[in-house]
Amino acid sequence: MAPTPQPIPDRMQRVELGDRSYDVVVGGTLLCRLGALARAALGNSASNAVIVADEGLPASLVRLAADSLSAERFTVSTHELKATEPNKNIESAERICIAMANARLERRDPVIALGGGIVGDLAGFAASIYRRGIPVIQCPTTLLSMVDAAVGGKTGANLSVTDSNGRCSLLKNLVGAFHQPSLVLADVDALSTLSDRQFRAGLAECLKHAMLALDVERTNEHSEDLLTFTLHSAPGILTRDRSLLATLVARNIAIKARVVASDERELSTVASGGRAILNLGHTFAHAIETLPALSPSNDPTQAPLHHGEAVALGLVAAAHAAAAMGLLPPADADQVRAAVEALGLPTQVANLPSNDALIARMRHDKKVVGGQIRLILPWKLGAVRSYFDPPNRVVNAGWDAIRA
Ligand SMILES: NC(=O)c1ccc[n+]([C@@H]2O[C@H](COP(=O)([O-])OP(=O)(O)OC[C@H]3O[C@@H](n4cnc5c(N)ncnc54)[C@H](O)[C@@H]3O)[C@@H](O)[C@H]2O)c1
Repeated sequence: MAPTPQPIPDRMQRVELGDRSYDVVVGGTLLCRLGALARAALGNSASNAVIVADEGLPASLVRLAADSLSAERFTVSTHELKATEPNKNIESAERICIAMANARLERRDPVIALGGGIVGDLAGFAASIYRRGIPVIQCPTTLLSMVDAAVGGKTGANLSVTDSNGRCSLLKNLVGAFHQPSLVLADVDALSTLSDRQFRAGLAECLKHAMLALDVERTNEHSEDLLTFTLHSAPGILTRDRSLLATLVARNIAIKARVVASDERELSTVASGGRAILNLGHTFAHAIETLPALSPSNDPTQAPLHHGEAVALGLVAAAHAAAAMGLLPPADADQVRAAVEALGLPTQVANLPSNDALIARMRHDKKVVGGQIRLILPWKLGAVRSYFDPPNRVVNAGWDAIRA
């Protein structure tokens, strides 16, 4: 029999969004309490539940979640999904809706997203359109989805579009809806089976949060600022110490929750705040993450980059762009590169297209408004601002910093 893991105290974070507020619980052995926590969040009128489960998860984890729901009188069906970007499409969302209809889900019945960001985004999207919206409970199983995708209510699918020249491109998250979950459970024990590469990809989003945390975490809330904590704790985090992971995940979720609560739909135009600051590194990342030839170790068998790897490169690029703009001392930009390296993430990549081609790709990002690039740049370690249409030399400095 497997030894019982040491208990880790649950940490609760409320995402304050008026009548769409919800709790995020971070801890260990949470999935065996899914049923009771779901019942408390949804009340007694919910009776059926569909688990949308990532096909790559251990069967025992899916069973744990299903048994826990059954013990709380939910009638449970499971729908498995292959978590790949090409499969993150409208047809997959439709299949989830059909599974919900077959399970006779009514307006108060939940869908449970058990997996990484792909499963969370698709199950959340299906929940937003089925019967014009039913509850979704996010149970993220990757580090990236715990600290980022599962909180905040962005759901969606990719769209495959063929242009007039017959070129087909996968446009990421082009369709979707804001649909806040009813509950989020981040069980750090689910991370034990995650590959090292996927785990490190999640650390890139943690570093992103650490690079903007000074304006979001309250002064004296923690003994160390998030960047210092993350780097000090890196050795333990990389060996997946459960207690350190719970602290890391909880602090990152608190940051995401506060930013989302201040600007749920990313409408703020305030340079120093709003949900857009979470795009730090992402304007660079989006331009490279769908390029098929790029890989973290410059080994073609490892291509393409994972989202988090592209974000890691984007953070280095943003720091050096900020240095070129005179915002950040060059030594601080070098410190960002060292931090990315310390977390086992790439800081340079081979086979990048020309800077002009990359800037053209940045202008096509779905977040671009009126063709203007908006960069989120650090002005000190831990604080960022947004800048519209930075000079090309600034953007070029970013790309040059990560070109192998
Ligand atoms: N909604 C948002 O706000 C938001 C934010 C960031 C990213 N995203 C989306 O999230 C997606 C990326 O999500 P991701 O990085 O979580 O990866 P993912 O969902 O692509 O999963 C990565 C891989 O890990 C496997 N996996 C998942 N959990 C596992 C576990 N516990 N053990 C073993 N294997 C496991 C999956 O089968 C898959 O092969 C992208 O589609 C991105 O667009 C959404």
